[in-house]
Amino acid sequence: MIITVDGPAAAGKGELTQRLAAHFGYARLDTGKLYRAVGLKVLGAGGDPEDEAAAVEAARALTGDDLEAPGLRSEDAALSASKVAAIPAVRDVLLEFQRGFAAAPPGGAEGAVFDGRDTGTVVIPDAPAKLFLTASPEVRATRRVKQLQEQGTEAIYGRVLQELKERDARDTSRKVAPLKPAEDALVIDPSHLDADAVYAAALEFISAKAPD
Ligand code: DC
Repeated sequence: MIITVDGPAAAGKGELTQRLAAHFGYARLDTGKLYRAVGLKVLGAGGDPEDEAAAVEAARALTGDDLEAPGLRSEDAALSASKVAAIPAVRDVLLEFQRGFAAAPPGGAEGAVFDGRDTGTVVIPDAPAKLFLTASPEVRATRRVKQLQEQGTEAIYGRVLQELKERDARDTSRKVAPLKPAEDALVIDPSHLDADAVYAAALEFISAKAPD
C-alpha cells in the first residue's frame, strides 16, 4: 500500500504523514529532505544550486549522512532545495531512489507514506490513496514561523511569507513535475481544520480506498 501526501510548504504534510505512518506501521519518506540535502550539499561545496552539473553531482553523491545533516530545515536549505528541484536531471536521480523506496519499503514494512510535492502525480502515479494538503500562503507562513520559533530560530513573518511565495511560484511554474493535485487526490484545506480533523478526513479516505 502506498499513500501519497502532496502539497506546498508548511501545509501540515509532515505531521499528517507521521501520524499515518505510525497508524498503519508503514515506512515514511519525506521527499523534501532529499532535495534539501542536495541543495545543502551544493552550498557546502561552495557551488551554485542553479548550476546543473554541480547539483546533479551532489544528487548522485548523496549519502545517508547527508539526509541527517544539521541545517536541513533551515530556510537557506529550503531555498537552495527549490532551485535544485527545478533541474530535471536532479529529479531523475532522486526519482530512482524514491521508486526503490516504494518497491521495497525499509524495515520490511507493508506500505509506505510519501510526503512531497509530486509524489502522487509523478513519483507513484498509481498509488491507491492520494491526498493533497493546501492552504493560503498566509496560513502557512504563520505555521512556519511557529515551527521555526519552536526550534529556537528567530523568524520574521514578512520574510517567511515572501520566501514561501517565491518557492510556491517556482514550484508551481517549473516545467518538470509542477506542484498540482493529482486528478484522483482528495484535496484538504486545513486553514479552518485542526490537525485531528485533517487526520480523521485522511483516514476515512484511505480506509475507503483500501478496505480491510
Ligand atoms: O517540503 P520541503 O519544504 O522540505 O521541500 C523543499 C523543496 O524541495 C521545495 O521547495 C520543492 C522541493 N521538492 C520537490 O520539488 N519535490 C518533492 N517531492 C519534495 C520537495
